[in-house]
Amino acid sequence: MKINITKFTVTIIVLIIVSFLSCANGLYKSNIDIKFSLSDKYKDLFYIGAAINEDIIMGRDLQSENIVTSEFNSVTPENSLKWMYVQPSPNKFNFVAADRYVELGTKNNMYIVGHALVWHNQLADFMKNKISPDEFNKHVETHIDRVVSRYKERIDAWDVVNEAFNEDGSLRESIFKKQMGDNYIEDVFKLAKKADPNADLIYNDYNLYKPAKRAGVLRMVKKLQNNGTKISAVGVQAHWSLKFPSLNEIEQIILDISDLDIDVMFTEIDITVLPNPWELVGAEVTQNFDKFEGDPKMDPYPNGLPDEIEAQLAKRYQDIFKLFIKHQDKISRVTFWGVMDRHSWLNDWPIKGRTNYPLLFDRNYQPKSAFKMLSNLVDN
Ligand code: XIL
Repeated sequence: MKINITKFTVTIIVLIIVSFLSCANGLYKSNIDIKFSLSDKYKDLFYIGAAINEDIIMGRDLQSENIVTSEFNSVTPENSLKWMYVQPSPNKFNFVAADRYVELGTKNNMYIVGHALVWHNQLADFMKNKISPDEFNKHVETHIDRVVSRYKERIDAWDVVNEAFNEDGSLRESIFKKQMGDNYIEDVFKLAKKADPNADLIYNDYNLYKPAKRAGVLRMVKKLQNNGTKISAVGVQAHWSLKFPSLNEIEQIILDISDLDIDVMFTEIDITVLPNPWELVGAEVTQNFDKFEGDPKMDPYPNGLPDEIEAQLAKRYQDIFKLFIKHQDKISRVTFWGVMDRHSWLNDWPIKGRTNYPLLFDRNYQPKSAFKMLSNLVDN
């Protein structure tokens, strides 16, 4: 009888330990067999960043936060510093999330990015309604001054202007161009410099693998440089797919930007594995593909990524990072647009409600093959 009780007790204890271990196993890190964090591995090459959403910033997603603080050494706010959230109505600022964001980055000694000061999307409605050019200009001045000054010497880099060019390299007819005139990009870079002279100032855009668009952006960069207006880097968004753009096209982006003695930053990398509704024309967020919603052909992996595609994704990241490593002297940062697949914006763009797999961590917060590939590319 005594023996039986002991056996019973032992069984219970074993069960408790096993169930504890299997719970712990579900927590990030416990079953990772990698010795160094990703950003540690790349620390002599470039920053490894992640865009973080409001749940992470506000402490509501501790597993993602844990990944961010151990694997990354740079952060970008996915939405929390965009105009519509920071200044939703005239002179009414809301810095709750932005303050928490900067605290998180500062506490973890990260390269902190501000995204984005001037962008036609996610702009407050009052800026799009009928207001005079004078008022519009005043709001832009106030916005940049208030937001940049508040985080002076704490936010390391600003995406000063986002997505200002058309595919043919001409200046987009945005509300900023209409209201402020053709020289607005230079004007707002000056305002940002005035508010924080030491911050890195970035021009950020997508589809820079297209020669005509890139040429337009680089003409603007040269103009600012010739006028002595500070611009520190061109940000290449890098919302790419398994096949496009080609490695040659990516290499040409790096060479052409760095030719102007300015940093290259890959600011928003993610790789879609899903069919594209158009032949990859890029990341203009306002494009509408409602008619494809619910179409199973456009959403082929709702129940998990087949091993074969996961391997293709890892190989694609590996090829791209080999190129980045080759040009590490020209590249100062590579930022992933998100932490884990479930929270990626690519589940809802360009078609809502799909299941995409573009990032380094899966839906259970576990590192994917791509993560391991990138980690093994650098040994130290
Ligand atoms: C996206 C965010 O990820 C989404 O949550 C939001 O709904 C729309 O914007 N280019 C950019 C980013 O510069 O700000 C965009 O982020 C993705 C495309």
